[in-house]
Amino acid sequence: MPDIIRRASVCAYEAEINVVMHGGSGTFALNVDESSIVMDVSDDGPGIENIELALQEGYSTASPEHREIGFGAGMGLPNIKKNSDVLKIKSKKGSGTSLHILIRVDKAGG
Ligand SMILES: Nc1ncnc2c1ncn2[C@@H]1O[C@H](COP(=O)(O)OP(=O)(O)OP(=O)(O)O)[C@@H](O)[C@H]1O
Ligand SMILES: [Mg+2]
Repeated sequence: MPDIIRRASVCAYEAEINVVMHGGSGTFALNVDESSIVMDVSDDGPGIENIELALQEGYSTASPEHREIGFGAGMGLPNIKKNSDVLKIKSKKGSGTSLHILIRVDKAGG
């Protein structure tokens, strides 16, 4: 269970920070039951042009101001990917971003 909580916390944190840093205004929906933790995080920001690229470790478009306060390592989306069982990203340049994140809680070893 501590591992599930750690993984869910990482996913929630990274997704939220991305909305604040790169997105616009957004919503965070959390659904928890015996089998899974599901987070749906959407924003109406500028969107992601190349999702495959954005998922690569080290890729970041963070501004110098954001880097100065410690963000912009390009590790947020890779960390969500690593700590979730399902990650679906929907985004189009100019029309916002939505993440669907699922963490299974009935998995052996969690
Ligand atoms: N909600 C979003 N809206 C628009 N672009 C996004 C969003 N989330 C991520 N991106 C784009 O994907 C890139 C990679 O995101 P990622 O979270 O992996 O790294 P980062 O936020 O730049 O740095 P870090 O998370 O390590 O502080 C971002 O730099 C940005 O270009
Ligand atoms: Mg990030």
